[in-house]
Amino acid sequence: MNRILAKKKLAEKVWYYRIEAPLIAKRRKAGQFIMLRLWEGGERIPLTIADADPEEGSITLIVQEVGKTTVMMADLEVGDFILDLAGPLGKPTHVEKVGTVVMVGGGIGVAPAHPIAQAMKAAGNKVISILGARNKELIIMEEETRRASDEVLIVTDDGSYGVKGFVTTALQGLIDKGEKIDMVIAIGPPIMMKFVSELTRPYKIHTVVSLNTIMIDGTGMCGGCRVLIDGKNKFVCVDGPEFDGHKVDFDNMMARQRAYVEAESQSLQNFEKADHQIGDKGCNLHAMMQDTQDSSKETGGDHE
Ligand code: FAD
Ligand code: FES
Ligand code: MG
Repeated sequence: MNRILAKKKLAEKVWYYRIEAPLIAKRRKAGQFIMLRLWEGGERIPLTIADADPEEGSITLIVQEVGKTTVMMADLEVGDFILDLAGPLGKPTHVEKVGTVVMVGGGIGVAPAHPIAQAMKAAGNKVISILGARNKELIIMEEETRRASDEVLIVTDDGSYGVKGFVTTALQGLIDKGEKIDMVIAIGPPIMMKFVSELTRPYKIHTVVSLNTIMIDGTGMCGGCRVLIDGKNKFVCVDGPEFDGHKVDFDNMMARQRAYVEAESQSLQNFEKADHQIGDKGCNLHAMMQDTQDSSKETGGDHE
């Protein structure tokens, strides 16, 4: 089990968690993720390792409440436990000095973009970050992004902060003003990554996207995360999560991602109707985790 060391709200329904996971903190590299399970009967979900502190033995996760598991996770507090974390998983980002790298982070995608921006900057690249969200309240990690970037551009759909428009508006602006861009890395909703890739294609700017397909085991065995890359089947959990954006079949990916929307929505409704109670005993996760706290020492920790 893994203890929550810190938790804070970054925006409406977006939470920062620092979680004890010494083995993962030591080994993780930019671009990797973990699979998390909250309780014995719960599903596993993938979450990017947004940061790590090997000395403290902790990793940072930034999680948006979108459905049952992430809403349930938001019920946990500092001192509570996560049942298990497996990782680090996925291929790390290929980091090298290429020149100017534009990091595009949309919504919660700003969190996974952060460690990559840090690594690209440390490798000697000029890093320009574009942060996009629907409105000012949903812009997250601005300060951290400024520290990891040479320049930061902010765009909001409604113009409540930064420039009004989409991330593609800002990216097109950079291209139009003659910025020599050697690489774009885009992380966010699939539709955003699709449009960023379409924008850069005619300019032949190498574009990397981090795909957020549905994952079940996270180890290449179930096929749940299958995507078409250049017409060939790839598994996001072991072959990715990063791919050449110009080769991704985004329409196929988005259709697969929507496959369980009805069941997901029903499951959240049932959970909320039951007043966040789970399990046969009808207790809440917070209480369940407190009860099993002692056994954590025996089952112990993060898994690699
Ligand atoms: P549900 O209601 O079950 O699902 C809501 C939507 O989330 C679904 O329609 C589907 O699009 C997606 N989803 C559902 N189940 C899964 C699943 N098992 N695997 C992947 N997507 C699923 N989210 C963050 O907030 N922060 C992150 O750092 C982050 N990193 C990710 C890294 C990777 C490699 C991937 C693949 C996804 C990442 N996600 C991240 C998305 C996160 O996994 C989903 O939001 C989460 O699984 C939703 O679960 P739920 O039960 O709360 O919502
Ligand atoms: Fe099962 Fe990738 S999540 S193969
Ligand atoms: Mg779910």
